[in-house]
Amino acid sequence: MKAPQEQVLREAIRREIDSDEDKGSRAVTAAGPPVIELEDIHLSFDHPVLEGINLEARKGETLLVLGESGIGKSTILKLILRLLVPDSGTIRVFGNPIRDLSFNEALDLRRKIGMVFQNAALFDSVNVFDNLAYPLRENTKMPEDEIQQVVRERLAFVNLDPDKVSGQLPGELSGGQKKRVGLARAIATDPEIVLYDEPTAGLDPLTVGTIGDLIRKLQREMGVTSIVVTHDIRAGFRVASRVNLIRHGRIVFDGSPEDMIATDDEYIQRFLALS
Ligand SMILES: Nc1ncnc2c1ncn2[C@@H]1O[C@H](COP(=O)(O)OP(=O)(O)OP(=O)(O)O)[C@@H](O)[C@H]1O
Ligand SMILES: [Mg+2]
Repeated sequence: MKAPQEQVLREAIRREIDSDEDKGSRAVTAAGPPVIELEDIHLSFDHPVLEGINLEARKGETLLVLGESGIGKSTILKLILRLLVPDSGTIRVFGNPIRDLSFNEALDLRRKIGMVFQNAALFDSVNVFDNLAYPLRENTKMPEDEIQQVVRERLAFVNLDPDKVSGQLPGELSGGQKKRVGLARAIATDPEIVLYDEPTAGLDPLTVGTIGDLIRKLQREMGVTSIVVTHDIRAGFRVASRVNLIRHGRIVFDGSPEDMIATDDEYIQRFLALS
């Protein structure tokens, strides 16, 4: 017999999942080939953090990675970007091991991966247009008139008015607008992979909903493979094809959001209840 409080929580989360008018996209996406693979990854700093992580994101799916603060979620994203190298284990992106990439090959890899940082990480001294144009100017040979067009398209994609925001400095934007500009910049070069670190932290519920819609739109319209790391389980469940939960350096749950809320595992129930 479940405690009533727990029952209420399960129902609330289930409603969140049911409000997703695009539920179909979850089930079908799991069939694609693996795009990101972590195999038996170990990594210690001054203490062991990752102790045998096995994780896989398949083409077109949105993998939600959950776990307590300090457990190693951001570290996993850094490993995929090859900003960090594990002590042992294999990481493959697009089927290729990334351990022995040269400096330039690692830069190439990062160009294929859009990263949405927790704090948006925009360049504060240049306007929104130049923030978005930066990865295009750096990473492509696109002529300036085409860059103009792509920047406008990306801003429109994240529901910002290009005429209004292009000339604004990041400091003139709200938190939600900054997040959207950060997302627009992450997808400027049409990456096949987008990694999100706390994409909805500090946002009001309405903006959280908008960001969730954008993540789903990217998956649906562009077939992007994503990993979303977040504390916000409800927002995460709205976009997730699959959920991985980390505990003690390992993945202790791998399954759908529905399976996660239905499980009787005591730790998982506690984790969901505290979130
Ligand atoms: N470069 C580093 N040097 C030393 N320790 C680090 C480094 N990066 C991360 N750590 C440690 O590794 C552990 C995992 O950190 P990480 O940032 O990945 O956690 P997280 O799950 O993202 O936490 P949060 O939910 O709070 O963002 C923490 O104990 C952190 O202090
Ligand atoms: Mg983190």
